[in-house]
Amino acid sequence: MSTENTQVEKFSYDNNIVRLFANATILWGVVGMLVGLLVAFQLIFPVLNLNLEYTAFGRIRPLHTNAVIFAFVGNGIFAGVYYSLQRLLKTRMYSDLLGKINFWGWQLIIVSAAITLPLGLTTSKEYAELEWPIDIAIALIWVVFGWNMFGTILKRRERHLYVAIWFYIATFVTVAVLHIVNSFELPVSLFKSYSWYAGVQDALVQWWYGHNAVAFFLTTPYLGLMYYFIPKAVNRPVFSYRLSIIHFWALIFLYIWAGPHHLLYTALPDWAQSLGVVFSVMLIAPSWGGMINGLLTLRGAWDKVRDSAVLKFLVVAVTAYGMSTFEGPMLSLKNVNAIAHFTDWIVAHVHVGALGWNGFLTFGMLYYLFPKLYKTQIFSPKLTSTSGSAP
Ligand code: HEM
Ligand code: HEM
Repeated sequence: MSTENTQVEKFSYDNNIVRLFANATILWGVVGMLVGLLVAFQLIFPVLNLNLEYTAFGRIRPLHTNAVIFAFVGNGIFAGVYYSLQRLLKTRMYSDLLGKINFWGWQLIIVSAAITLPLGLTTSKEYAELEWPIDIAIALIWVVFGWNMFGTILKRRERHLYVAIWFYIATFVTVAVLHIVNSFELPVSLFKSYSWYAGVQDALVQWWYGHNAVAFFLTTPYLGLMYYFIPKAVNRPVFSYRLSIIHFWALIFLYIWAGPHHLLYTALPDWAQSLGVVFSVMLIAPSWGGMINGLLTLRGAWDKVRDSAVLKFLVVAVTAYGMSTFEGPMLSLKNVNAIAHFTDWIVAHVHVGALGWNGFLTFGMLYYLFPKLYKTQIFSPKLTSTSGSAP
């Protein structure tokens, strides 16, 4: 036997980058949700606006949405992707340096958002409020993330690309396109720009972006994480691999057309509104395909949920995903939307998705990751059970 055959190849995973992102997820989760709480209190006690322009509801509300979506969920996505990608492809990340640039660049963007939004520097487009220099930074850092991901995919030791990775790829490609197209703007000074588009076209591009931020920032990466962490946590294969592929293609094809449901009863032509409604209703199928696939992965192992905090959080997350993706299509029907649009129902729908699906999946993932990343045990089983489980 030649010595070549007996040599054992050694490699290690970059867990440091996962630790960084996981810690940042917690930090920004606390900040973003505290700001959410302040916003909630301001609705009841307007005096909490503090009579200052910087802390007024109109400035603090986008601080909340940006912090929870891009800082809390964003770091959560990176933590989960950097952890699972290496394991699914049986290789270290393509570049530790790109990972660090991704991490520190993203935190810098978050800090600049936390400074500029209270100062009132905003494009006033929901979920795309940040001004043009920060937009450019987002595009660059996002490309660094994609570069690192595709580099890792290219040097993989595992031929098969598991479905989670398909979801990560869809996330990278689509978020890049959405962000760049919606951010075309004409700068007039360092912190003021005007949208490239006008009138109803501007609204349509904005909600094509806004809705697909829900689809490709809050949903596809999280479905990828679901497909990795549920089978891992329950130690079983995913219920149906075929279903995962079918609902992947159906989901990404349908989602991209549904944006006009945010513009019902506006100047947008009727046919475009109806198109958005039809695609929104069809979205129930692939969304529930994902939910069912996630939940049925637990078939025959539901007893494990009783003892595992990780599984409890994941199950609630997937259930919330199912509820919000049933409610969403209903809300997009014109007769239902006429009642719901200007009410707290929409805000409730948002949080079933964002807090229920994204928040709980993130918590479950962090409960799974921390003992492994730090080779330790959860600090207090009692606290864990308070948040939903026995030790
Ligand atoms: C402790 C947790 C949270 C609290 C107390 C909270 C509170 C709030 C409040 C008071 C509003 C404004 C509602 C209004 O204007 O009537 C809001 C809006 C919003 N929140 Fe949260 N939130 C929390 C968690 C989250 C999380 C985790 C996410 C996303 C991952 C999120 C995403 C949003 C979004 C997208 C909106 C805007 C909704 C819209 O424009 O319809 N929130 N939140
Ligand atoms: C099949 C899936 C879904 C459909 C068809 C859908 C549909 C809708 C509709 C019709 C609205 C109300 C628009 C309005 O009247 O202003 C809405 C708002 C919203 N939905 Fe969903 N939804 C879906 C899933 C989700 C999920 C899973 C999340 C979060 C993870 C989410 C987050 C949001 C947000 C943030 C808004 C508020 C947008 C704003 O600021 O006005 N949706 N959705």
